[in-house]
Amino acid sequence: MNEDGSLYAETCDFQKQDASCILDMYSRLLKWGDGDHVMDVGAGEGSVSLEVLLPKLPTNFKELVLADVSSKLLDFARERCDDERVNYRQMDISSRTIPDEFRQHFDHIFSFYCLNWVVGVDENKRAMKNIFDMLKPGGDILFTIISSTPIYDFWENMAKSKRWENYSNNVNNLISPYHHLNNSAETLRRYLEDAGFIIDVCQSQNCCFTFATFLKFLKMALSVNPFFQSLPKDRRAKFIDDHAEEIRKHPKIAIFQDGAGNEALQLSYKILVACASKPLNTV
Ligand SMILES: C[S@@+](CC[C@H](N)C(=O)[O-])C[C@H]1O[C@@H](n2cnc3c(N)ncnc32)[C@H](O)[C@@H]1O
Repeated sequence: MNEDGSLYAETCDFQKQDASCILDMYSRLLKWGDGDHVMDVGAGEGSVSLEVLLPKLPTNFKELVLADVSSKLLDFARERCDDERVNYRQMDISSRTIPDEFRQHFDHIFSFYCLNWVVGVDENKRAMKNIFDMLKPGGDILFTIISSTPIYDFWENMAKSKRWENYSNNVNNLISPYHHLNNSAETLRRYLEDAGFIIDVCQSQNCCFTFATFLKFLKMALSVNPFFQSLPKDRRAKFIDDHAEEIRKHPKIAIFQDGAGNEALQLSYKILVACASKPLNTV
């Protein structure tokens, strides 16, 4: 994804709101103890981990590890927090091995809007298994995964256009593996069960978020756009114009004037929510 941490930090209000709601709804299912070790997989530049998750952890937790494949985004996060209980680890959650010191180490593993970036079926399943292996027996997970969003339609439509096809020819390797499925929650349930989890919740949820201005939405869309950053600088203004046009013509984007005369925008999308645990008798 785009590794511009400051743009993401500026525009991630909907991601923060979603993580906050999900934590408020499902944290009661997690079994908290004294001195718990916690990981946030795909923590990125840290807004959700540090501004939403960290303040909601019980005060007696021992350690929060922010993990991400991007060391650039983790450096951004590290700059923002001097809490000694917070650590940072560059890792690809779908890799074939996990660090030895993380095996059966964590009591709770969270992941918000990361596993939709782990696109291949084998890689997605391996990510679930790696997370399972990093949990202590009895440990638990709470995930959100984007399953369907107009943002993927923007990428696919722009990739089909003559002007942008050369810059976005790997679009299929970037779209959530759950996006084109009718039964995404069933698929996720199967992957989690195959990894060994006992499932408490695995469901699809409809969400929407209102952006106060069209520009705020456009900036958010660019902050997660995987092609924008690698464009030559002199092509970016045109890309932004074409992207804005894609947004305006999308049937699931509602654009309206608010009371103050701003052009506000409502985004509707679907997410998967999973809460599950590792059996106590796992060796
Ligand atoms: C949309 S951001 C989500 C950031 C934050 N969790 C939130 O909710 O706003 C997705 C993050 O997942 C990370 N990511 C993508 N693939 C990954 C992988 N295979 N292993 C670990 N992190 C990954 C990206 O680098 C990015 O920081």
